[in-house]
Amino acid sequence: MPEILTLVGKGNANGEDIETALELAAQRIQSGQLVGIPTETVYGLGASANSDVGVKAIYSLKGRPSYNPLICHVSSLEMAKHYGQLNATALSIAARFWPGPLTLVVEQSPSCPASSLVTAGLSTIALRMPEGLATRLIERTHAAIAAPSANRSGKLSPTTAEHVAAEFPGSDLLILDNGPCSKGVESTIVRIDGEKITLLRPGSIMLSDIEKALGRNGVRTGMQEHNHENAQIIAPGMMKSHYAPDAALVLDCTQPPGGASLLGFGQFGQEHQGPVANLSLAGNLMEAAANLYTYLRRLDETGVNTIYVNPIPNVGIGMAINDRLKRAAAPRNEGQYDDT
Ligand code: TXA
Ligand code: MG
Repeated sequence: MPEILTLVGKGNANGEDIETALELAAQRIQSGQLVGIPTETVYGLGASANSDVGVKAIYSLKGRPSYNPLICHVSSLEMAKHYGQLNATALSIAARFWPGPLTLVVEQSPSCPASSLVTAGLSTIALRMPEGLATRLIERTHAAIAAPSANRSGKLSPTTAEHVAAEFPGSDLLILDNGPCSKGVESTIVRIDGEKITLLRPGSIMLSDIEKALGRNGVRTGMQEHNHENAQIIAPGMMKSHYAPDAALVLDCTQPPGGASLLGFGQFGQEHQGPVANLSLAGNLMEAAANLYTYLRRLDETGVNTIYVNPIPNVGIGMAINDRLKRAAAPRNEGQYDDT
């Protein structure tokens, strides 16, 4: 059974308990074990990035293909530079958005201490400095923490500690519970190659935000089409089917059949006759993102065959929501699964 250490609420949120929990988690990570880690995006399944044993355990528990590399989470810029080569563009972006929900894919530094399993044989490495408690855990472990989302490969990402426990019921995973994740969708991933910036995965930080921070236009190279072929080269993990509930999804549906299960958004969700989980009655996309995985899980757990989904405006974080929904709705052929 996974063990959940609660860091918020339930009366034990004092500093001392948090420090004890972090120390326990750090010890596990330093001895090559896994820990469920809260971040602002989704919960991660963390191990020391430098430990072959720990990283192997991540791939094995998730059932993740070994060619799909992991994000290394750092607690300082200094640590990031130890792992990856941060050029002027990367440094400006990091200065503006770290800690935060942004992952930078850069060339590895010559002395990168990460296990070669983390990068799956690529010359590049994905680096992110998360917000809050995760950073304090990384500080204690004195190494980057490799952490994919803490779900079984191809399944919905977890946004609560309970989701993580439900994904791995037979494991003895230690999970740090810091309440629901505030963002709810995975980090934006960009590849930085000289001055060129390429969006690999949309998230709550937009390319336009990055352009603004850099004070220049034209960094937008368009999103890579994450299909099976070029996914091998650019971003091994980004295949078409992913984030999949057990039920089939029908997207962009304004008039779902009466009685059907509906993942609603705004006014559409209000009119439906049948089970509804409305991502945001007010039509607020940030709120919708934070609720996305929890509400999808909730509807999926009722055992329905099909979940209908209202149209989500494709602006701002709505693009990340639609990206995840599209993958969740994609045909689930063997070998097409992924767990970005
Ligand atoms: O918000 C997040 O990013 C969460 C939290 C836990 O930090 N993590 C997460 O990790 O979503 P994961 O493993 O589920 O997704 C990481 C994605 C994968 O699609 C992987 O292929 C890609 O990052 N990736 C990792 N290293 C890469 C690299 N060197 N080049 C291109 N893509 C890479
Ligand atoms: Mg994932």
